[in-house]
Amino acid sequence: MPIFGSLEFNSLEDLFVTQLEDLYDAEHRIIRALPKMSEAAHARDLKQAFDQHLAQTRGHVDRLDRIFREINKTPERETCEAMIGLLREGEEMIDSKGDPDVRDAALIAAAQRVEHYEIAGYGTARSMAKHLGHAEAERLLGETLEEEKSTDVKLTEIAETQVNVHALH
Ligand SMILES: [Fe+2]
Repeated sequence: MPIFGSLEFNSLEDLFVTQLEDLYDAEHRIIRALPKMSEAAHARDLKQAFDQHLAQTRGHVDRLDRIFREINKTPERETCEAMIGLLREGEEMIDSKGDPDVRDAALIAAAQRVEHYEIAGYGTARSMAKHLGHAEAERLLGETLEEEKSTDVKLTEIAETQVNVHALH
């Protein structure tokens, strides 16, 4: 969403499309960021989690493309200022120095903020799709939502079972 802009919403459909455009922009930015997160990760499981989520994220863009087609809209990106900020924080973790396990914990902290943004965005968009009667869009958004949630859970598991445990020693 633009911080200062001139969005105009005359219908829930307008708002729904803008929400999709925001997510479309966010996903493209995440695709650029994840290889750097993976490269910076020390623990093998964390690297794998980032790599797997990169593949999933490409699928999220494909799903959004399908949704735009479903509702007869051309896919467009609405600059996602929040994702720019979240990924800038991620860059700080990528560029950080110090203990590898603590740095992994820092990468996870940044990545989970990204996931929670997406969980909020997809949850909202799915509710709107439901309300608007876009059944296929609702289904596709739900699929991506579940993948974002499971990524978040996996990152928590990695943090709790490996990274934070090692970082304490
Ligand atoms: Fe995603």
